[in-house]
Amino acid sequence: MVLLLIKKVPKLKDMLRRELGLSTDELNKLPAKYKVLGDLAIIKLPDEFSHLKKEIGRIILKNDPRVKSVLNLVEGIQGVFREPKVEVIAGDMNTETMIIENECQFKLDAKRLMFCLGNQHERLRMSKIVFSDEVVIDMFAGIGQFSIPIAVHCRPRRIFSIELNPLAYKYLLENVFLNNVDHIVYPIQGDSKEIVPKLLRHKADRIVMGYVERTQEFLEAAMMGVKAEGGIIHYHNIYKTNDIFQKPISEVKSAAIKSSREVERITHRRIVKSYGPGLVHVVVDVKIK
Ligand SMILES: C[S@@+](CC[C@H](N)C(=O)[O-])C[C@H]1O[C@@H](n2cnc3c(N)ncnc32)[C@H](O)[C@@H]1O
Repeated sequence: MVLLLIKKVPKLKDMLRRELGLSTDELNKLPAKYKVLGDLAIIKLPDEFSHLKKEIGRIILKNDPRVKSVLNLVEGIQGVFREPKVEVIAGDMNTETMIIENECQFKLDAKRLMFCLGNQHERLRMSKIVFSDEVVIDMFAGIGQFSIPIAVHCRPRRIFSIELNPLAYKYLLENVFLNNVDHIVYPIQGDSKEIVPKLLRHKADRIVMGYVERTQEFLEAAMMGVKAEGGIIHYHNIYKTNDIFQKPISEVKSAAIKSSREVERITHRRIVKSYGPGLVHVVVDVKIK
């Protein structure tokens, strides 16, 4: 019998109290934990701890055997390409890593691209609901966060995965081959607002609209991608807590009217995650006819 002894990783606050002698007041200003993405640790340190950032990085690296580098998140994910602003505070400067989730492999450079751990439940859900005879359009494919698990677990006829950022597109291509789904996923580099109406008009049984800034501005393009006989749109966006779910539903309804389509029904709606004070990331599944 092989006995595996896995060293328990101490809690961040215990590590820092022990090794830096920080007081309870100081520890309360620090995050309770860091995230582990592949073999990287990601922490968001308050500015007042910037003089200790290298020490904190070194302590995490020493205590956590899963980790080869420690990254400090300077600012949240921003801009059209949804890029994080991070700095390496300890360990290997190479921030390329491999994430394994739901039997899928995702390679990415965590310093330049996002992989949101808070969307895990949604990635899992999507990997269970697509039928094998469907054509899917993933309008904001990233490195394949939705396209890859759908392809691996649901084996639809085709997924057109559109991505604007050349770096994310490069990893999307790599991840498609890594997961052996190149016969299902067709990556396309460009702006989905142009590509869907021009190249993929009335092609899709299902359209995935992950969150980008102002996702609502892409709804009319999505309507054009839905097959003439109908289909489903998974619409993600950020709203004030008071506006859910009436605002996303009315946005979809008004885009449908402008595109001479109709909302048949809302088949699903949920809060994906909290997105800061008073804000939530939501998804609404809408059947269009
Ligand atoms: C939130 S990330 C994608 C990840 C995945 N869809 C998810 O929700 O986890 C959004 C991606 O959309 C891409 N993007 C932004 N605007 C786009 C556009 N007009 N057409 C295609 N891709 C776009 C960004 O470069 C980024 O990689």
